[in-house]
Amino acid sequence: MNQTIIVTGGAGFIGSNFVLEWVRQGLGHVINLDKLTYAGNLENLVEIQHHPQHTFVHGDIGNQALLAELLAKYQPTAVVNFAAESHVDRSIHGPEDFIQTNVVGTFHLLEAVRAYWNGLDQADKQAFRFLHVSTDEVYGSLGKNDPAFTETHKYEPNSPYSASKAASDHLVRAYHHTYGLPVLTTNCSNNYGPHHFPEKLIPLVIHNALAGKPLPIYGNGQQIRDWLYVEDHCAAIRCVLKTGKIGEVYNIGGWNEKQNIEVVRTLCRMLDAKKPREDGKSYADQITFVEDRLGHDQRYAIDATKIARELGWKPVETFETGIEKTVTWYLNNQDWVQNVTSGDYRHWVQKHYAERGEEMA
Ligand code: NAD
Ligand code: TYD
Repeated sequence: MNQTIIVTGGAGFIGSNFVLEWVRQGLGHVINLDKLTYAGNLENLVEIQHHPQHTFVHGDIGNQALLAELLAKYQPTAVVNFAAESHVDRSIHGPEDFIQTNVVGTFHLLEAVRAYWNGLDQADKQAFRFLHVSTDEVYGSLGKNDPAFTETHKYEPNSPYSASKAASDHLVRAYHHTYGLPVLTTNCSNNYGPHHFPEKLIPLVIHNALAGKPLPIYGNGQQIRDWLYVEDHCAAIRCVLKTGKIGEVYNIGGWNEKQNIEVVRTLCRMLDAKKPREDGKSYADQITFVEDRLGHDQRYAIDATKIARELGWKPVETFETGIEKTVTWYLNNQDWVQNVTSGDYRHWVQKHYAERGEEMA
């Protein structure tokens, strides 16, 4: 398969891992459209900066004219939509950007893609795919003994972030049902790995631990997330793109349910072994329980049976192997961390955690 594809949000965490792998594997030309918000970082893409199979375009998925131009110029066989505002806590502080990009932006992207797709000849129309990358958070929160989310679980988003992603999923579904657009939707659990912005739990804890700062645990730390190594997510997306059935939804998960406190303690143990504190104490001493997140979802868990059974995808990494790779990556890439934690980042961390009574910046 050698394809020209448009990827949106390819300078962010998951998108950059996807784009890098696409180019490394020689799968074809990637046109990478990204607005470069605080979460977008061209440093993630230095390895392929001058690669002939990677074209970076600075722009917004809400800019239909730009999209029409790119689609006409590059004639992609697929569009993979990663672009989004993605952080729950930011959506609680300011939901507007989430509505703008995740809902209105996805709508404009769909409109541009629909116009392009309508103009293709029959064979190209049949081959084309629009893959929408979404989240398990659209399904809401599970009780302790509830079965994991399947693709038919009802939508019950609880945060402005998950509500905006749910809205985008519904638009994607409607464009298939109404216009026949050949869409695929993936709903994935929490990712972790290289290039993860240190506002999210795992990279935040690694960063704060090394900086001697508190490791903030919301509430009692017993909330559960299902963790998947980012490269496994990217492999699943490639698999769905290649063999997924048009109009279908695929849940992607790592079968790795962990309480937040357990994740943080694992990170502390790993750092204690790899980069011991100078005073000989454990990083776990930095754990601090802080005020809970508003409307905090208790538990997410993905039932990834369908994608395994129908498409043959399974994660390669266990939590233990994935977290080891992740910690090693952060220890080896402290320059990257320094660069992304300057400026705006400090402002965010100060504002967000000060409300919880923690001085962090
Ligand atoms: P991220 O915040 O790290 O990256 C988002 C990227 O999108 C950034 O590069 C940003 O500059 C870009 N972007 C934002 N608004 C844009 C716009 N209007 N036009 C063009 N580009 C724009 O996010 P991520 O963690 O890499 O998540 C990628 C996708 O995967 C999102 O759709 C998210 O909902 C979904 N997802 C994430 C996770 C996770 O654990 N991180 C899990 C499941 C699904
Ligand atoms: P996060 O990485 O923000 O992902 P999401 O909210 O999309 O699941 O948070 C993961 C879990 O960790 C979530 O239950 C909230 C919790 N959390 C903390 O306890 N402390 C923190 O400082 C952060 C950022 C998150």
